[in-house]
Amino acid sequence: MKELDFHTLAVQGASPCDEHTGAVTTPIYQTSTFSYFTADRGAALFAKEEEGYIYTRLSNPTNEKLEKNLALLEGAEAGLTFASGLAAINALALYHCSAGDHFLVQKELYGGTYELFTKHFPRLGIDMTYLTEMTVETVRANVRDNTKLIFLETPSNPLMNVFDIAGIAEVGRKAGVPVAVDNTFATPYLTQPIKLGATYAVHSATKYIGGHGDSIGGMLAGPAEAMDAIRASTYKDLGATTSPFNAFLFLRGLKTLPLRMDRHCANAQKVAEFLAGHDKVQKVYYPGLPTHPGHELAERQMRLFGGMVGFDVAGFDAAKKLLDGLEVCVQAVSLGDVLTLIEHPASTTHHGYPEEDLADVGLTEGYVRISVGIEDAGDLIDDLAAGLERI
Ligand SMILES: Cc1ncc(COP(=O)(O)O)c(C=O)c1O
Repeated sequence: MKELDFHTLAVQGASPCDEHTGAVTTPIYQTSTFSYFTADRGAALFAKEEEGYIYTRLSNPTNEKLEKNLALLEGAEAGLTFASGLAAINALALYHCSAGDHFLVQKELYGGTYELFTKHFPRLGIDMTYLTEMTVETVRANVRDNTKLIFLETPSNPLMNVFDIAGIAEVGRKAGVPVAVDNTFATPYLTQPIKLGATYAVHSATKYIGGHGDSIGGMLAGPAEAMDAIRASTYKDLGATTSPFNAFLFLRGLKTLPLRMDRHCANAQKVAEFLAGHDKVQKVYYPGLPTHPGHELAERQMRLFGGMVGFDVAGFDAAKKLLDGLEVCVQAVSLGDVLTLIEHPASTTHHGYPEEDLADVGLTEGYVRISVGIEDAGDLIDDLAAGLERI
């Protein structure tokens, strides 16, 4: 049979029915522990002589189904599910990096990821290099003998920069360094980093995978051997497993991911084009606009240009005039919800960046980020137009 289309894979997953019961919707195995029935079987499970469920922090049938479905959509051998996106990033990075190792990453990142890396990794003795420009050349020039992980986020949060996954993955492959891509903004529907040569794809499942703003979770996809090793170490030992209830919500979210993404992207393109033509808007950041510096690269490595749009107005006061009074767009952090969410990164998600780093990455005081939802694009544009008139 020919390879199934992404829409079919999203709906059917690794198998359409629960393998334990035949239920067409994966049940929520809401249990902390599993009887091994006999002491000998318990010993065999712990000795890994036999496969089976022991304890939900290690594995659970609902979580396992989500892991398989995400791996399938990412074109990966295996998946893992975590309590949050940050937990997935932390478990991945600490699996690869110890004191004395070097970690190469872009400077402009989701603020929470940046705070994890800047506040905690140096005190563990991990040597961090933050690249203002994340290109094939800068990555190649900064890889060292002790580099253990290269991490990129594309499109980046909050400035929608697009980085060359295939090119950077090739640098990593030649240097023998794994490359991890935070694929939260693109989702596997728009970009499959592993198929482009990256080692891992990591997600905040909280966002488009869940899609309805109701649950926090994270996912990792990658090679089976490494994923088994992560499961046995930083996954199990750091303890940030997802709950089966949240895994159930993410399983449901994955089924409609491509449908929702089509609409998010179509709406985002319209919103970006509207903003680009408005005289109160100084600059628009959306890979779908031909003026975006990463437009051609995005055309190559993304199916569509994503649901996230950013723009500059004339400072924080102007942004506040726009934001306070919006009637359709909701002021909140997070993204990927069916509902449109709008925020001012410098004072919220990215307030943990020192001022000089904000300036270095080009995040201005007037920058506003929209996670464009699936409402009517005309209603969103009218709301934004009224907001811009208040400036
Ligand atoms: C790109 C990106 N990666 C990771 C995270 C962290 O995810 P979580 O909030 O689920 O821990 C976020 C959160 O906003 C994000 O935007």
